[in-house]
Amino acid sequence: MRRGSQVIRLVTTNRHKFVEASEILSHYGVEAEWVRYKPQEIQSDSLLEVVIWKGFDAKKVVPPPFVVEDTGLFIDALGGFPGVYSSYVLSTLGIRGVLKALEGVEDRGARFVSYGLLYLGDNMFKVFRAVVEGRIAMSPRGEGGFGYDPIFIPQGGVKTFGEMSLEEKSRYSHRAGLFNKIGRYLTSLSTGETVINMLVRGGDDGEDAY
Ligand code: IMP
Repeated sequence: MRRGSQVIRLVTTNRHKFVEASEILSHYGVEAEWVRYKPQEIQSDSLLEVVIWKGFDAKKVVPPPFVVEDTGLFIDALGGFPGVYSSYVLSTLGIRGVLKALEGVEDRGARFVSYGLLYLGDNMFKVFRAVVEGRIAMSPRGEGGFGYDPIFIPQGGVKTFGEMSLEEKSRYSHRAGLFNKIGRYLTSLSTGETVINMLVRGGDDGEDAY
């Protein structure tokens, strides 16, 4: 990517993810272009590994600069399940199945963890991570959002993501956290801040990296 360039391709088949991410990036003067490609996913118990391999796969077909993302819902009482299997669990058990597994369980603690890989071309990439802590609702609430949104209540809130507008969800969400980091990083590239840090400190200390 030419430093200061302001268009980023978001590689996902999920319209909700694209809308959420592009809204955040717009605050940084970055325009998001939607690339509806589903990168191949490896089987791994690490979201980080999954997102890196997604990036390698996307690199074969999508011109840089682009971002691929991978997210999981980690539920404390289930030992972090569904985690990296979130997509599979949603399409098999569904959110009803997850609620059933939590029947009678008092500890409802959970978190969304998101990784994003930004590929800038010339084998330059950077990985970002964001987390939102919260809890699992007793029953699904709200028509908004997607995936696990109707059962996830972020810390500090009372509504589920499913009951929130896009703007409200973005006040809390892992995806907003992730794309704010990416937006700040892109801004720092275009202002030369990252380059200066690298020269002064002998390397980008990756404060914003995951
Ligand atoms: P993915 O592999 O990153 O697409 O996400 C794994 C699973 O988590 C999928 O079933 C998604 O629907 C779900 N998911 C990802 N992000 C969110 C979100 O922001 N809200 C609710 N569910 C999500």
